[in-house]
Amino acid sequence: MDKITIFDTTLRDGEQSAGASLNVQEKLEIARQLDKLGVDVIEAGFPSSSPGDFEAVNLITQEVKRPVICALTSANAEAVDKTWEAVKGAAHPRIHVFLSASDIHLSYQLRKSRKEILQLSTEMVARAKNYLDDIEFSPMDATRAEPAFIYQILEAVIDAGATTVNIPDTVGYLTPQEYGDLIQGILTNVPNIQKAVLSAHCHNDLGLAVANSLEAIQRGARQVECTINGIGERAGNASLEEIVMAIKTRQDFFHFSTNIDTTRIYRTSRLVSELTGFSIQPNKAIIGANAFRHQSGIHQDGVLKKAITYEIMDPKSIGIPSSVLVLSKLSGRHAFRERLAELGYTLSEEALNRAFQGFKDLADKKKEITDRDIESLIAEELRTTTEIYHLDHVEVSCGDHSLPTATVRLIDPGGQSLADAALGTGPVDAIYKAINRIVNIPNKLTEFTVKSVTEGIDAIGEVLVRIESEGITYTGRGASTDIIVASAKAYMNALNRLLARKELKKGEVS
Ligand code: KIV
Ligand code: ZN
Repeated sequence: MDKITIFDTTLRDGEQSAGASLNVQEKLEIARQLDKLGVDVIEAGFPSSSPGDFEAVNLITQEVKRPVICALTSANAEAVDKTWEAVKGAAHPRIHVFLSASDIHLSYQLRKSRKEILQLSTEMVARAKNYLDDIEFSPMDATRAEPAFIYQILEAVIDAGATTVNIPDTVGYLTPQEYGDLIQGILTNVPNIQKAVLSAHCHNDLGLAVANSLEAIQRGARQVECTINGIGERAGNASLEEIVMAIKTRQDFFHFSTNIDTTRIYRTSRLVSELTGFSIQPNKAIIGANAFRHQSGIHQDGVLKKAITYEIMDPKSIGIPSSVLVLSKLSGRHAFRERLAELGYTLSEEALNRAFQGFKDLADKKKEITDRDIESLIAEELRTTTEIYHLDHVEVSCGDHSLPTATVRLIDPGGQSLADAALGTGPVDAIYKAINRIVNIPNKLTEFTVKSVTEGIDAIGEVLVRIESEGITYTGRGASTDIIVASAKAYMNALNRLLARKELKKGEVS
C-alpha cells in the first residue's frame, strides 16, 4: 500500500488566516503536537516575511527533531539565503520556493514574462540546492496557468534539484475532475517527474479542497498539503483530519495509508482552535461537536443497538474522550495530572502547578469539572503571553437604572499598582475604557465573542477578543465563571500581546 506524505501547513498557510496571530511559543506548542500526531512534514513558517516568523521557524528546528521542518521562501536570492539561516538547524530541513506561474499573476501582479519566471524559478531552486538537498517548488496559481507552461517549469526545476513539486490551486478554482486531470497530465508530460514527489495543495474557496486533494492522490500525487481544522487564507486549506480519516475509513477505495496517529486528531484540533481563537463549526466533519451526536430517535435507537448502524468511524479512533464527567473539588493533584495525561497534555511542573491552582479555584465555584473545563484551563495556560500589565482587580456596577461603571487595578511592569475608573455604554465597555486609561495604547476592538464552555448555569464563560493596531490583529482570550472577569482577562491578554510585540520591535531597532 502506498504511503501518502502528510505535509502540514497550519503554521504557515493556516497562520495566514485573517486574525490567527500566533506568537512564537504558541507556534512551538502546535509544532510539538503535530510531531506527536505523526505528520511527515511541518511547514513552520515564512522566515523572510517577518522577524517573528524567522524566530518561530528557528525555534521549531531546535525543538522538533523527527519530522521534516520546511520553510517557505519567495523566489528571491536574499530570501532564499535568509530561509536557509532559519531552517539550517533542523534535523531534516526543507526549503520551499514559490513563484507565480499563471498569466493572470504574471501580467497583473509581477509584470514578468514566462521566460523570466522560468529562469528565476530554476535559479532560486539551484541556489537553495547549494545549501541542502530537500527542495520543494510551487508554481503559484498553477491551476489557472497554461498546463504546458507548468510542465515546462516543473521539468526545469526538477533538473535544477527540486525533490518535491507542488501544484497549488491557490484560489480554490478547480473541480476534482479538472485537478485530477492536471495531476495526471503532469505525470504524463513532465519527462523527469519520477525524480520528484508530486504534491497537492488545495484551497477551499468552492468547498472542494478535500475532494480535490483526494482526487489528486488517486491520480498519482503522493504528498498532500493540509491544515488542522482546514484553517488558511480566505476559506482555508484542505483539512488534514478530513483527508486522513477519508483515507483510513475508505481504505477499500483509496488503498493508501498515512503515518498519522489518528487518536491524536481531536486533541490537535482543540489545541489549534484554542490558540488561534477560531472555533469549530458544530457540524464540521470529523471534529465538530455534532460529528458523533445522534439526534433523531431512530438513529439513537440504532446506535445503542450497534454503533455501526449510523457511525462510519469510531469516535475513539479520533481521540474523542469517552467520559464526560471527570473531577470535583475533592480530586487531588494526582487525579488532575492523570486526567491531563489522558487528554494528551504534558505540562511543565510550573505550568501544572498554575493549572492545578486554576482547577481548585474553579472547583470551588463549580461542582463538576468536565474535560471541556480542563481544556479551557489549559488553553489559558498555553495562551499565557509575557504579562506586561497584570490584571489585579476588576469591579463593575451596572443595571437597568444605573450608569455602567468599572474600576480596574493593574500592576505595571515595575510592580506598581495603577487604578482607574470609567463609565461606559455597558459593563464591558466601561472596563475596557478604564483599562485604556491606564495602558493608553491605541487600538480598535474588532471582535468580541462570549461562549459557554459547557452546559449548565455554573459553566465557564470564554471570551475571545480581537483588537487591531497598526494593521496587525491580536487575539486575546479569557475564561472565568464570571463573564465580566473573563472579558477583562481577554482584553488584557490581547493588550499584552500587542505590548509584547512592540517591545520586540523596539529591541530589533536598538
Ligand atoms: O496557495 C498557494 O499558492 C501557496 C503557495 C505559497 C504554495 O500557499
Ligand atoms: Zn496556499
